[in-house]
Amino acid sequence: MERVKVTVAVTGGIAAYKAVEVVRQLQEAGFDPHVVMTRAAEEFVRPLTFAAITGHKVISSLWSEDAGASGGEMSGIEHINEAQTTAALIVVPATADILAKFANGIADDFLTTMYLATTAPVIMAPAMNVAMWQHPAVQFNLATLKARGVHVVEPGAGYLACGMVGGGRLAEEAEIVAAVAEALSNAAGTATATNDLAGETVLITAGGTREPIDPVRFIGNRSSGKMGYALAEEASRRGAKVVLVSAPSALPRPAACEFVGVTTAAEMREAVLAKLPSATMVIMAAAVSDYHVAEVAPQKIKRNGARTLQLEPTTDILKEIVAERAPGTMVIGFAAETENVLANGREKLKRKGVDALVVNDVAGTETGFDADRNAGTLLTPEHEMELPAGTKAAMAARILDQLVVLRSAPRERVTAR
Ligand SMILES: Cc1cc2nc3c(=O)[nH]c(=O)nc-3n(C[C@H](O)[C@H](O)[C@H](O)COP(=O)(O)O)c2cc1C
Repeated sequence: MERVKVTVAVTGGIAAYKAVEVVRQLQEAGFDPHVVMTRAAEEFVRPLTFAAITGHKVISSLWSEDAGASGGEMSGIEHINEAQTTAALIVVPATADILAKFANGIADDFLTTMYLATTAPVIMAPAMNVAMWQHPAVQFNLATLKARGVHVVEPGAGYLACGMVGGGRLAEEAEIVAAVAEALSNAAGTATATNDLAGETVLITAGGTREPIDPVRFIGNRSSGKMGYALAEEASRRGAKVVLVSAPSALPRPAACEFVGVTTAAEMREAVLAKLPSATMVIMAAAVSDYHVAEVAPQKIKRNGARTLQLEPTTDILKEIVAERAPGTMVIGFAAETENVLANGREKLKRKGVDALVVNDVAGTETGFDADRNAGTLLTPEHEMELPAGTKAAMAARILDQLVVLRSAPRERVTAR
């Protein structure tokens, strides 16, 4: 069987020597790794090592003899060719520098240029000194990359080459290889660029609303916005015009979306109803508060014995949308449950009258609220489809796959994947 080509990019960290073992294990797992190195990486390991193990030339310069177009064809340009022919780009180790460059779209060498040119899944295994790892700039760049769908194999803690003990140690080689296999299986069937949402205007809500108690306090929830933002990214990638109505979230705004920032459930309702007439699909992934405080204190409440807050129900936005939507506008809800997940989901699907409901169990910490991964079930009045555990980007792709099918054959051909 032909081996799947993957690209291992080695950058200039002390853990560069561990990339040799990752390459070997990828071969054992049935892949055909090709190696790209940054200039700094060559200071740590010689390209010859990788060339000998892989049997392929190691690419490290944007300006090599093979860099130009052969026969005037785009695919003859080496970095474009590499970007388009690889099934995955695996950066191991990933330096603080490469995280910053990828996050900011800098393209000043072979690897950074290739990154911008590839649509293959990108897996990064960072490794660095603990203080570098904890630096807000590094963490911000990581958050940007994760929001963009990059798979990050988190470093572990332990003895570091710099003599310190702490976070920043490259993940185990086997863990990196497993992440590659998972990213490829998540991407299967969705990695190919499709335009299957062209012509659709998808209105998406995300994040957790906040209901004020006084000028400085609020009632909130643990939603991070990651699922809604992943859906927004994926829907625009597939050609939809996307309107993202977002409650507070620490995530960077997805590119190419119309963004409406809101805070409370009432503001979210107003924004969603204003955008509803132009929407052909509405996906309500936000965690909207069921209650708001009846009387918000005008000044900060002082500690003074026990206090009771009177709560009143907020308006059910989902129900209102179902009632007010134009004919043909699909409405998809999300249900975060902590018990009797499926039974509660089925009941909610019926009660809300939505076309589909994504139910997820938010009781755990591995998936659901604030986690990078999610799992769940997509319910329609006729079908139930399991959405296996994966990154939120992969889950977004699976959900949209199903909605495209549902759109083209309402109530008939939705199949389990
Ligand atoms: C001895 C030595 C060890 C280094 N180790 C790391 C490291 O583990 N992680 C990291 O992010 N940078 C490390 N650096 C800094 C990078 O090599 C430097 O930021 C370089 O510009 C990275 O280039 P690249 O990202 O293009 O490979 C190290 C530098 C030296 C001199």
